[in-house]
Amino acid sequence: MRIGFDVFGNIALIKFDRSMSLSDKKKYALQYLSSHKSVTTVLEKTGKFSGRLRTLKTRFLAGDKTLEALYRENGCEFRFNVESCYFSPRLSEERKNIASLVKSKERVLVMFAGVGPFPIVIGKHSNASEVFSVELGRDCCKYALENVKRNKLIDKVKVVQGDVRRVIGPGRIVSGTFDRIVMARPNLVDGFLDVAFSVSRKGTVIHYYGFYFEEDVSKLKELILSEALKAGKRVKILRVVKAGDIGARKFRYRADLRVL
Ligand SMILES: C[S@@+](CC[C@H](N)C(=O)[O-])C[C@H]1O[C@@H](n2cnc3c(N)ncnc32)[C@H](O)[C@@H]1O
Repeated sequence: MRIGFDVFGNIALIKFDRSMSLSDKKKYALQYLSSHKSVTTVLEKTGKFSGRLRTLKTRFLAGDKTLEALYRENGCEFRFNVESCYFSPRLSEERKNIASLVKSKERVLVMFAGVGPFPIVIGKHSNASEVFSVELGRDCCKYALENVKRNKLIDKVKVVQGDVRRVIGPGRIVSGTFDRIVMARPNLVDGFLDVAFSVSRKGTVIHYYGFYFEEDVSKLKELILSEALKAGKRVKILRVVKAGDIGARKFRYRADLRVL
């Protein structure tokens, strides 16, 4: 029988084998609670992350009836609703890696920022001058702001709610140019690289994420080069690395590129 887990601090989210009955799932959840003292709520994951906002469907199984998680990673604390806000604990190492690349006084833009894990880890572990956290979901932004305050970063991390296409660019709320842009994209057809290029300058580094089968990863480079051409930018792809697996033979890849 296959059972998958995601633990977000106080909440364990369990994906059960389809053959399991509800009463067996509840028994399993109660056992899980008694053997994991830091977990106080067990939910069943009943669907996949879906839609533009990457929301999730769950079913309550045992413990405290809440959807609000309080999760710690990289010396930071995050509160969020597990149904209305995408959050992946599996990206914790990746967030630390990106923060370690940020140099003193950099101006950083994080698109698709969710409840703020990338901006907050960068804000906490680097000497960036300011970090913008841009996210479409209103609920995510409410938590992002709470998380910025919780981690005492209100002077450094700015939360902006809105579609990256509407709020970023010359003359918009998020304007000027950035030294570094992080694009932990949702899995959508729109590549959004033109938005990043509109606030880039010579030397800007873009961390661009995408999901690919290993044999298809050359498509990531092709996409970047063709988008750069359309935007009239010259870029150098510095590296393409695996940043986690997301399914059978499919990986989250990160391309680091520099605008020339
Ligand atoms: C894969 S999640 C990334 C969350 C976050 N970076 C993290 O590490 O947990 C993608 C996020 O992009 C947001 N999103 C989707 N389309 C967007 C858009 N056009 N503008 C801004 N945010 C968008 C979704 O609401 C979702 O929270």
